[in-house]
Amino acid sequence: MSYPHLSDTAISKLELSDQERIQHIKKPRWIGYTRAREILGKLEELLTHPVQPRMPNMLIVGETNNGKTMLVEKFREKHPASENPTGEAVKIPVLYIQAPPGPDERGIYNAILTRLFEGNPRSESTDAKRDRVVAVLRRVSLGLVMIDELHHLMAGAYVKQRNCLNVLKYLGNELRVPIVGIGTAEAVRAIQTDPQLANRFTPEVLNKWTRNAEFARLMSSFERVLPLREPSQLSKSPLADRILDMSSGTIGEMSTLLNMAAIHAIKAGEERITVSMLERCGYVPPTQRKQVAATL
Ligand SMILES: Nc1ncnc2c1ncn2[C@@H]1O[C@H](COP(=O)(O)OP(=O)(O)OP(=O)(O)O)[C@@H](O)[C@H]1O
Ligand SMILES: [Mg+2]
Repeated sequence: MSYPHLSDTAISKLELSDQERIQHIKKPRWIGYTRAREILGKLEELLTHPVQPRMPNMLIVGETNNGKTMLVEKFREKHPASENPTGEAVKIPVLYIQAPPGPDERGIYNAILTRLFEGNPRSESTDAKRDRVVAVLRRVSLGLVMIDELHHLMAGAYVKQRNCLNVLKYLGNELRVPIVGIGTAEAVRAIQTDPQLANRFTPEVLNKWTRNAEFARLMSSFERVLPLREPSQLSKSPLADRILDMSSGTIGEMSTLLNMAAIHAIKAGEERITVSMLERCGYVPPTQRKQVAATL
């Protein structure tokens, strides 16, 4: 049998039991797409940017569930921390943290110190923490700082939000490394209110998906990695339109929908995704979830 619609890895999975194939489908996977590759390229440029007083920063913006964290995860994988053979300090080319749940300066420092396996004594003053963060980060050959869920810092009292934005400015200036914020549109709006930050942060948007050639390529990629024996033709009408429509155009929803449909196709013995599989696999579209919430 030949399976021109599948990748070699997916073909090798066809020998597994149905249950094992289903387990494989549920595992996280990365599919490259043009916009992701573009942003990854720009992140590489930031990482190797010559040190200058005013380092360029980036803001990766997009809807929830549209691949922001996966993208920066991919970048981190390429630049893991390592022991420094010539010294005792570790090398951390890319430091990734999640912003604390609210606009809390100490929370930012705690997140950084925790990442670096440093203690977080409660009695330590904020000033002392700030100094310690800068001192530790100077020792680890830092290349770039990533702060995910940046919009968390923009919730709550205005003064505290300002304070957090100033922390970003301070860290960037002190450490002379690019800062990459990752968040929703809320984060962009907040940065725009501060002229000094607005001109340092370049937004890179991960737009929702629409019906175009790139979307068709994405659908073909999904088809290649889902180990089903029959071709589904996900990139063609009517499937492509239906998938886009049901998922509201985020890659996370598309992935969930296609996984559920593929699992359903295996269990039903159909071995391909059809429109009726999409409808019968138990996937609840985001629009319907909102309707349910409204009735509670
Ligand atoms: N490149 C990709 N290839 C395959 N699946 C992907 C890719 N990027 C994202 N996904 C799918 O989308 C889901 C959501 O992605 P991710 O967690 O990166 O979203 P996000 O934009 O960070 O959302 P949030 O703002 O809620 O944190 C992932 O769990 C994964 O299933
Ligand atoms: Mg995320």
